[in-house]
Amino acid sequence: MTAILPRRAALRALAGLPALMSAGALAGTREDFAQALERDPRLLGFATARAESLAAPLAPLRGRLPSGLAGILWRNGPAEHERFGHRYRHWFDGDGMVQAFAVADGGASHRARILDTPKRRRETRAGKRVMPAFGTPGSGPLLGPDDMNAANTSMLAHSGRLMALWEGGSALEVDPATLAAGKFVAWHPDLAGLPFSAHPKVEPDGTLWNIGFVTRPRPSLLFYRIDPNGRLLKANLVDAGPLGMVHDFVVTARHLVFLLPPFVLEPERYGTFLDSHIWRPQLGTRVLTVDKNTLEPVRRHELPPGFHFHHGNGWEEPDGTIRLDLCQSPDPRFVTEDFRGVMDGRLRFGSPHPRYRLAVLRPDGTAAIEDGASGAAEFPRIDPRYTGRRHRAVFALAGGDAGEGWPLRRIARLDPEGGETDAWAYPRHQVPEEHVFVPRGDAEADGWLIGPFLDLRRRATGLNVFEAARVSDGPLWEGVLPYPVPLGLHGIFAPA
Ligand SMILES: [Fe+2]
Repeated sequence: MTAILPRRAALRALAGLPALMSAGALAGTREDFAQALERDPRLLGFATARAESLAAPLAPLRGRLPSGLAGILWRNGPAEHERFGHRYRHWFDGDGMVQAFAVADGGASHRARILDTPKRRRETRAGKRVMPAFGTPGSGPLLGPDDMNAANTSMLAHSGRLMALWEGGSALEVDPATLAAGKFVAWHPDLAGLPFSAHPKVEPDGTLWNIGFVTRPRPSLLFYRIDPNGRLLKANLVDAGPLGMVHDFVVTARHLVFLLPPFVLEPERYGTFLDSHIWRPQLGTRVLTVDKNTLEPVRRHELPPGFHFHHGNGWEEPDGTIRLDLCQSPDPRFVTEDFRGVMDGRLRFGSPHPRYRLAVLRPDGTAAIEDGASGAAEFPRIDPRYTGRRHRAVFALAGGDAGEGWPLRRIARLDPEGGETDAWAYPRHQVPEEHVFVPRGDAEADGWLIGPFLDLRRRATGLNVFEAARVSDGPLWEGVLPYPVPLGLHGIFAPA
């Protein structure tokens, strides 16, 4: 195979990352957090993992597990929030913990393990925290993105491999039997060490698409097209103008679509990765539509400024109009302020929350965006068989009643054309995490929802299974572990 990227471009993208370095103090606020947790049990989800490895069966609390549901809910999230006496300063910083909720034969069990990445092993050898993180300074040295790869954001099962994903570095192989961290994945020798983001899209035929947010020599987007056997078919590095972290995207029949929030990386700013991002609302939200065959941009649109992490899905109409959904907030303060505050023991969630919104991108270059449902919404998931096709069901965590202190207390079904169509509110003492759809029959959204929650009364993590067509009936089955696990981010369900 000829070079996927000009070698020089790949090497430049891997060159030193001074923008990610900072001479700031390493000390966190471990004591402050411990005191705050005494006062406010809701902070339990942001406490550090109580052990490097955990394993236990789930004790059933109600209902029966559906006989057809068998497989593993793989999850990942920052979990080691404190090391060597120091506490990280942002929720997204801690070393990742892979979790396996195995469901079979009417019962469920749990295993979890901190991923011992090269970054973490280096710090173990040093006996102190060394490397910079997303929102916490470090002293390095940092020669490439994987030197700070915490592997803490999501999971991917593809072409016979299980992988832990992070926003800014390579996918990390994980041994499904032991949960041990393996090697970083190089999809092609020329791309070894370059970022492979945490929200890849897998089409029903197994084709895998992803992006990498490359920061050097200037912020750029790296596009990946990978066949069902894990073979890289094409990659392209595109300079898209002012750019910040691009967390997610949608795939349609013919295009990849990227909404670029005006939260842009200005590497000359000397701070953490997060501190180097500046809110520039005057840039608006730029939209980049990329041809799937050439991986070159073919259309550009502009939308009002906003910040988002996640999309549900997108599709293309016969006339070329693209429609997509996302969970968007007016600005990124929930990331820059609220998710920092929880690490210091300040659980306020005072910033504007993301809402479920719909964007339309017309072939004449015009574009519009509007609310698709009222209230806060995040962690949208779809029936994976509808990736890139017109969908009518998104399952998301949604806002509850005002004033309850936790912004996402319900599990809701959203319809891009009809708003919220079904929902169930978790009791006040339970904090739901992302719920994943598991297909059963042929029709869209015929299946189950499975997702964990943190039970603040029991001080333990639990797991719920819902009939996806009747979320408002409440869980079909509920089980609970004998221990809490830090609140995680994303997961996948791998059928048995
Ligand atoms: Fe995400």
